[in-house]
Amino acid sequence: MFSLIPVLSVGLCGTKLGCGEGGCGACTVMISKYDPFQKKILHHTANACLFPICALHHVAVTTVEGIGNTKSRLHPAQERIAKSHGSQCGFCTPGIVMSMYTLLRNKPKPKMEDIEDAFQGNLCRCTGYRPILEGYRTFAVVSGFRQCLKHSGRTMMPSSLFDSSKFQPLDPTQEPIFPPELMEQKQVCFKGERVMWIQPTTLQELVALKSQYPNAKLVVGNTEVGIEMRLKNMLYPVILAPAWIPEMNAVQHTETGVTFGAACTLSSVEEVLRKAVAELPSYKTEIFQAALEQLRWFAGPQIRNVAVSDSGVLGTGTESLMLAHSPLISPCSTEGKRTVTMDEKFFTGYRKTIVKPEEVLLSVEIPYSKEGEYFSAFKQAYRREDDIAIVTCGMRVLFQHGTSRVQEVKLSYGGMAPTTILALKTCQELTGRDWNEKLLQDACRLLAGEMDLSPSAPGGMVEFRRTLTLSFFFKFYLTVLQKLSKHQNGPVSVAREGSWGKSELYIITLLLLLSFYSSVDASEAQSVPGFVCFVSAKDVPGSNITGIANDETVFAEDVVTCVGHIIGAVIADTQEHSRRAAKAVKIKYEELKPIVTIQEAIEKQSFIKPIKRIKKGDVKKGFEESDHVLEGEMYIGGQEHFYLETHCTLAVPKGEDGEMELFVSTQNLMKTQEFTARALGVPSNRIVVRVKRMGGGFGGKETRNTILTTVVAVAAFKIGRPVRCMLDRDEDMLISGGRHPFLGRYKVGFMKNGKVKSLEVSYYSNGGNSADLSHGVTLLHLDNSYNIPNVSSMGFVCKTNLSSNTAFRGFGGPQGMMIAECWMSDLARKCGLPPEEVRKINLYHEGDLTHFNQKLEGFTLRRCWDECLSSSNYHARKKLIEEFNKQNRWKKRGMCIIPTKFGISFTVPFLNQAGALVHVYTDGSVLLTHGGTEMGQGLHTKMIQVASRSLGIPTSKIYISETSTNTVPNTSPTAASVSADINGMAVHNACQTILKRLEPIKQSNPKGSWEDWIKTAYENCISLSATGFYRIPDVGYNFETNEGKPFHYFSYGVACSEVEIDCLTGDHKNVRTDVVMDVGTSLNPAIDIGQIEGAFVQGIGLFTMEELRYSPEGNLYTRGPGMYKIPAFGDIPTEFYVSLLRDCPNSKAIYSSKAVGEPPLFLSASVFYAIKDAIYSAREDSGVTEPFRLDSPATPERIRNACVDTFTKMCPSAEPGTFKPWSVRV
Ligand SMILES: Cc1cc2nc3c(=O)[nH]c(=O)nc-3n(C[C@H](O)[C@H](O)[C@H](O)COP(=O)(O)OP(=O)(O)OC[C@H]3O[C@@H](n4cnc5c(N)ncnc54)[C@H](O)[C@@H]3O)c2cc1C
Ligand code: FES
Ligand code: FES
Repeated sequence: MFSLIPVLSVGLCGTKLGCGEGGCGACTVMISKYDPFQKKILHHTANACLFPICALHHVAVTTVEGIGNTKSRLHPAQERIAKSHGSQCGFCTPGIVMSMYTLLRNKPKPKMEDIEDAFQGNLCRCTGYRPILEGYRTFAVVSGFRQCLKHSGRTMMPSSLFDSSKFQPLDPTQEPIFPPELMEQKQVCFKGERVMWIQPTTLQELVALKSQYPNAKLVVGNTEVGIEMRLKNMLYPVILAPAWIPEMNAVQHTETGVTFGAACTLSSVEEVLRKAVAELPSYKTEIFQAALEQLRWFAGPQIRNVAVSDSGVLGTGTESLMLAHSPLISPCSTEGKRTVTMDEKFFTGYRKTIVKPEEVLLSVEIPYSKEGEYFSAFKQAYRREDDIAIVTCGMRVLFQHGTSRVQEVKLSYGGMAPTTILALKTCQELTGRDWNEKLLQDACRLLAGEMDLSPSAPGGMVEFRRTLTLSFFFKFYLTVLQKLSKHQNGPVSVAREGSWGKSELYIITLLLLLSFYSSVDASEAQSVPGFVCFVSAKDVPGSNITGIANDETVFAEDVVTCVGHIIGAVIADTQEHSRRAAKAVKIKYEELKPIVTIQEAIEKQSFIKPIKRIKKGDVKKGFEESDHVLEGEMYIGGQEHFYLETHCTLAVPKGEDGEMELFVSTQNLMKTQEFTARALGVPSNRIVVRVKRMGGGFGGKETRNTILTTVVAVAAFKIGRPVRCMLDRDEDMLISGGRHPFLGRYKVGFMKNGKVKSLEVSYYSNGGNSADLSHGVTLLHLDNSYNIPNVSSMGFVCKTNLSSNTAFRGFGGPQGMMIAECWMSDLARKCGLPPEEVRKINLYHEGDLTHFNQKLEGFTLRRCWDECLSSSNYHARKKLIEEFNKQNRWKKRGMCIIPTKFGISFTVPFLNQAGALVHVYTDGSVLLTHGGTEMGQGLHTKMIQVASRSLGIPTSKIYISETSTNTVPNTSPTAASVSADINGMAVHNACQTILKRLEPIKQSNPKGSWEDWIKTAYENCISLSATGFYRIPDVGYNFETNEGKPFHYFSYGVACSEVEIDCLTGDHKNVRTDVVMDVGTSLNPAIDIGQIEGAFVQGIGLFTMEELRYSPEGNLYTRGPGMYKIPAFGDIPTEFYVSLLRDCPNSKAIYSSKAVGEPPLFLSASVFYAIKDAIYSAREDSGVTEPFRLDSPATPERIRNACVDTFTKMCPSAEPGTFKPWSVRV
């Protein structure tokens, strides 16, 4: 309704919608406008999903289509990302291209730092970012790199993966010009169905309008109001846009500071402050420097380019910085202008200030600092870049002239109460005191008392937030101490989709968990314009029962078993109307008591049967023979797939015999076809499922897409017209489940030299409200890469009232291996031996039997291990780290080397089959189809390579159009890393059939061309179409007898990572990672390296960053990129070396290759255990040396809390059971 994106979707499909809340950058466009104040044309990026459509008046918008295309000519920004393999699923690519293009428009010769900064607001879930930066680095002028991406001169040099000398040069003179007719500005007013937008041009007009509509919202960037309207269901009938008012865009340098008009954007403020810092004496710009540091971490450029500078005044995040320096604020109304100081009386409640409803804010003055005055601001968030703070603070101290005696001090904190607060009592006590150790101790004691939080406080993380208030003060104390000493002693070094004739559909899910619902009333929804109809279980023509284990429903009937269980759907003419109508549907229900956590499921014995077991050897005897026995527990949180393209389906009824065509973003055409046919009550032969490509899948579209597809199909069936639905990000995260959270309980027996003798382990996974694929997530990876002579293991799938969890890259393997590494690192600690030694002596050897009795053949892991140890220079760097840790108390480094062995095959034997279809046309061109789907993993490219090699023709003659159920039937899902293996063999097989038929023709005309042979074959009535089929031989495993082969072969790899942690805040930096991976004889090194890097970075998210947070009732809080943080550009290791093991052909897969999609993900555990290593060092400084529990992910909260010290001791945890927590560990 309000944003630019729906307008673009009419014909311009390049701009993508990934989240709708400004958090992913997929919708980035370039905005160009004439600035009458600076008298020049400005270009900046913006998020189309939040950019108000009315604000486009007199503005030019450039989308990715506007800069180049494959038909005419690609722009260099498009060409370079493609040729450097910086695009996998491609969903993020248009946004990234537009960020780069806009940077080049403003700065044709950028520095590498500019390029990195330009991408702060863009996310990619596939590539791991390195190839994007590598490709765009070719635009950079040589300069100091902040993110220095180096590559090994070993097996694979990415620069050898593309030839930059063949890139088209950038020619800035060829860019489109700004249309001159857009330069004029006069008041405009737009009236929509529910909202009126007025854009005045003078201050007088604005204040008069504000007095006429005191409840009107002022909107500049819409990054707050847009989110409120979109996600919080708020409606603001009158909107005033002050962007054209001269006084509100003015910047004035006064005697006391710089005054910014209230409509100045954050980017423009940044520019002015940066100039002032460069030109003015340093003592005058203490506040400016702190503000700049904060702005660097404030959202991404797309937000900063449009959001206003006064937001901090109005209660959106930077208030703590403002409150600490008491800026002058100027509200203005028809009565005139007044000036107030921002102090402790300024905020009157949550997002309420003393600015009156009829007033608008005219300007804010940021003051100069004085001599003897010091200022710092701190922010701690989940992710360093583009993340809202957990706690922020602004701290200011003024000393009596020439002394270290405090004259004035202000400490203000955000994130510790509903409004930003000043630590008034502490400040009072500190005034008049000397800045010394005693002051520090007293300040911490006072702050611990004053900055208290209830254990049930919204947002959770109570001890962490309290500890941060002390840590920040300590950092401020040290900074000021250094500055004082410098002052006194001289310098000190301080360390979407096409336009279809369609209806839109919107899903209703019940936002209360586990309930009986007695009635659904859609009568009010009918009055919403464009309403077509409401669909529910009553409308399902076939069976409402669905799911892999037939334990799910298309629509909930009577009982809702999780938040996100679909009750019904509204069909309307547009997405906006359907969304409004869905919100008007009334549901009566009665709440029931849910089971949410693994703990609750264990207590209530709520498991989805069967319980899996694997036993080998004599565990009891093993423990008796062990020198030590250790017991422990580890929890690994779940993970959201966060494919950039959410679930979507277009269902087109064909009007005959129940036929329907479905365009679906799915990895599993067969189950999509089968479940739809069952829901519609028609045979599978009436349903055609087609997949061109997906914007990422990662396992999330292996089965869970069917919960949407069946609903859309039923809706299309009911109205007899096409229906399309693409889930909003929040719905997708709520409804479709993710990676299973795991709890592992272990008992491990081992010898003094670290050799493991015996292991007893129980794995509990949170399966959610249905079985789905949860039983595939088993015990087969509990050994990681270690030979354990005696094993007893049990795997429980907990049945809970969460959305069903499902496959996710690695499929339970990473969680299983993570627990192995947990006991491995603890036992090394217990033995007092270096962890790498203990890991090595436990590694398997060639010919060993695993705990599931499979013989290891072609075991290259030890080679990977030795190469990684040597290429990472492990031992020398370890010494340097020890030295660093001795010299630093509050920063610690850690390093860890981790192996992985990953079994390749579906563990359900019959899924290890694939089909292919090859058509050769009379011009010699080949249309290839196979059973696998393309989701960015490069499968189609690899299959074209296989066909090209098999047929002996160039890849340019071969084309794959799509995957569909009417070309290759009964396809296995594209999953389990085997798709290239099995589809490749099927393609090869089909090609061989055609070659065999051509053989006599080739013999009779050996010098002929491919085209000649095909022409002759056609004229001789030889079939030029063939199917191919392949099944993996001899796989199949019996859990009861622990016999058989679950896997066809194994992929191996080793990674070594180094990190640095900030013990005071829990932040960590990924300093360096070296990966050595065995991918056999790579079919395509560029794709394989991309897969390794992408998987590794996704693993960094899993183990260090991504945390799903649920209420005790099972309501998911983290429903978008605002609260759920996936790795961004800045989170990849500063040095990232990936190499492929040489000379390791794999006899068991196509052209000696190996599976690569899932195996590398676990290697990111090396980052987690490097963090743990660093924490050990911090704990040792506090005198604590015993093994400790660190659950995954290692978020700043967990890292900070584990670095026990005087500050954490001052903020103890509340006794569990004495309060209701805000969030629970599921
Ligand atoms: C992806 C994303 C990331 C973000 N990251 C951060 C972050 O890191 N840190 C942070 O602090 N915030 C963050 N935010 C919040 C948001 O960007 C800020 O609140 C932003 O500064 C708001 O500015 P705006 O112009 O877009 O606000 P708008 O939505 O246009 O308006 C914001 C509010 O201010 C009022 N208002 C605006 N101007 C005036 C005026 N002159 N007089 C009176 N009232 C006025 C409006 O009526 C409205 O209530 C983020 C938001 C998004 C979407
Ligand atoms: S869709 Fe706009 S930022 Fe994600
Ligand atoms: S290529 Fe970036 S999200 Fe897929």
